[in-house]
Amino acid sequence: MASSETAIRIEPSTRADAADIQAVARQAWEITYRDLIPAASRDTFLRQAYDLDFLQRLHARDDVRGFIARRGPQPVGFAMLSLGSPADDPPGAVLRSLYLLPEVQHFGCGRRLLQEVCAAARASGAPFLWVAVHSDLSAARTWYERQGFVYDGPAEILIGDAKIAEAVYRLPLGPESGSDGRLEARG
Ligand SMILES: CC(C)(COP(=O)(O)OP(=O)(O)OC[C@H]1O[C@@H](n2cnc3c(N)ncnc32)[C@H](O)[C@@H]1OP(=O)(O)O)[C@@H](O)C(=O)NCCC(=O)NCCS
Repeated sequence: MASSETAIRIEPSTRADAADIQAVARQAWEITYRDLIPAASRDTFLRQAYDLDFLQRLHARDDVRGFIARRGPQPVGFAMLSLGSPADDPPGAVLRSLYLLPEVQHFGCGRRLLQEVCAAARASGAPFLWVAVHSDLSAARTWYERQGFVYDGPAEILIGDAKIAEAVYRLPLGPESGSDGRLEARG
């Protein structure tokens, strides 16, 4: 099958990948959030958070890691991670984004991206990996729970003019959890 996980390469992203990340984000956001976040709010957020210059500056930061998934030359997914610092309360790294195009979903690519993210977060000494998910994005919530993430509580953010309810999850990054910590969690 053309979109099998073996055909997909995952590598650290650099500032040179900013336009590809932006392109995947635009497509994935439209599909993922069209029934959940008003179009005008999505547009505002995409213009800010996926601005090319902003993405390039993010890649220059010591406390940010990015990963990009490609099938051949085509970008098909990405993940962005903030490492955080021991002074953070609560402590831990934050998975800022994880998006795949629909045609490569459900082939293990998200899991592989998450393994890279976990390895980078663990190497930085972070005790947890945090992620905030749109509270009505049930497929993603189920997916994170299957990967071993534990629900921590609700949160709210502003996306454009829209107040969005989120569900916050954390994944313990202890040595015993390995890059496949979810396997332990799932028993
Ligand atoms: C959520 C997402 C990152 C998951 O990545 P993926 O590559 O599709 O998922 P994977 O194939 O790695 O899934 C691994 C496991 O989860 C299972 N799974 C995949 N999608 C699932 C779903 N929607 N519900 C429940 N389980 C799911 C798979 O069956 C697989 O299980 P297994 O390991 O027991 O075989 C991806 O589907 C995506 O980008 N979705 C749209 C954007 C999004 O919601 N991003 C998160 C925003 S915070």
